[in-house]
Amino acid sequence: MKIAMIGTGYVGLVTGTCFADSGNDVVCVDIDEAKIAALRNGKIPIYEPGLSELVLRNAESGRLSFTTDLAEAVSASKLVYLAVGTPPADDGSADLSALRSVVDAIAPHLRENAIVVTKSTVPVGTNQWIFERLRAILGRDVDVASNPEFLKEGAAIEDFMKPDRVVVGVRSEKVAQTLHELYRPFLRTDRPFLSMSPQSAELTKYVANALLSTKISFINEMANLCERMGGDINDVRRGIGHDQRIGFAFLFPGVGYGGSCFPKDVRALASMARDHGLEPRIMDAVDLVNREQKKVLVEKFESHFGDEIVGKRIAVWGLAFKPRTDDIREAPALTLLDYLLQRGAVPQVHDPEATENIRQIYGSQLIYCEGAMDALNGADALAINTEWKAYHNPDFAEMRTRMNGHVIFDGRNLYEPARMVEHGFTYHSIGRPLASVSEEPQAV
Ligand SMILES: NC(=O)c1ccc[n+]([C@@H]2O[C@H](COP(=O)([O-])OP(=O)(O)OC[C@H]3O[C@@H](n4cnc5c(N)ncnc54)[C@H](O)[C@@H]3O)[C@@H](O)[C@H]2O)c1
Repeated sequence: MKIAMIGTGYVGLVTGTCFADSGNDVVCVDIDEAKIAALRNGKIPIYEPGLSELVLRNAESGRLSFTTDLAEAVSASKLVYLAVGTPPADDGSADLSALRSVVDAIAPHLRENAIVVTKSTVPVGTNQWIFERLRAILGRDVDVASNPEFLKEGAAIEDFMKPDRVVVGVRSEKVAQTLHELYRPFLRTDRPFLSMSPQSAELTKYVANALLSTKISFINEMANLCERMGGDINDVRRGIGHDQRIGFAFLFPGVGYGGSCFPKDVRALASMARDHGLEPRIMDAVDLVNREQKKVLVEKFESHFGDEIVGKRIAVWGLAFKPRTDDIREAPALTLLDYLLQRGAVPQVHDPEATENIRQIYGSQLIYCEGAMDALNGADALAINTEWKAYHNPDFAEMRTRMNGHVIFDGRNLYEPARMVEHGFTYHSIGRPLASVSEEPQAV
């Protein structure tokens, strides 16, 4: 099938590339000329495991191409996918300005039998709006469909190639069949293809992200309770997770969720609820708990160092909002870095992939380190924000030698508290008792 992918960001590039890999002819379109020029030269603008090889292979085969020429791409395509950003507006609602301008721009170039498919996460009713808008511009009905995306950054290719399910929102069986054909190569092990109304499909995406965010905020609140009451969230997690009604997934305490999806989608769903006269009590609480949770390491630094933080060298491991991505949008690390700088500390940062993105925000205010161990040189403390594999099993003896102060603030519970004391560290983690060695200063 000939496919135009409008918007070559995270989702557009991954989706377009995977469709090309299954034999379709895909042209990815973007208004960002530098991005398109880079892609044409084989340079991938984001870090995503496996993506680079896949893009290069499909571009070489001629099935995947990149352009800024929207008219040419749309007029050659049977499927016109919309994958532009839908960022949060000031009031938390989804900003649809990019999507709306794309709908107007594609209209005159749509072929008679084209299907316009929305991949972007859009509020309920957007597909209906697209249908009516195209009818108003063209004076005829155009097939439209919703096809929300559930991939995870860091495992995007795997998720797309082997989806738990594919959801489409359609107005006709014929459109459902076309999309089923498109997805058939990815559904070979009996993975479900779920066809529903566009409204239900649009809502499904928000409800999925809202529930996942709720689980994170829930376990974080329980972790904070454990700390106050002397429990250990790890034990509690095990205690509840074996209950088959509960399970273990997405119940890891930490420094809060970030990224380009959960924060904005929770707020957008709350905004939609308000628009329909419903008070979104759970969504508001999930968002509030998360905003507070991002400060959890800040509070631990304050109670450990107080005013002594001024001038301290603080190693920071992990800047991306999660491992295996260079995405720092709404990353908890930003909250910690802002605090450290504002209190006059000197952050020495390391991340396997996200350093360049962080440099664009903080410039010369931070010390950027090539290796994780380099960040520890002379450091008075270490803070961990992202659970990159490389941080899971470090050489603690070397860490101790390199560091000036032997205290770790672990926002991802990577280590066993008792073992950290054996290694000679005072160890703060999330929802577990403080593990301290006597040489370290305690709360001031
Ligand atoms: N990133 C994720 O993990 C993820 C997962 C599922 C769904 N989504 C949703 O997918 C959508 C896209 O997200 P993303 O992370 O890929 O965003 P992104 O910001 O990485 O990419 C959006 C792209 O659209 C381009 N664009 C903007 N206006 C355009 C126009 N008029 N014409 C052509 N291109 C234009 C931008 O230049 C950019 O390259 C959003 O609605 C998001 O909520 C994202």
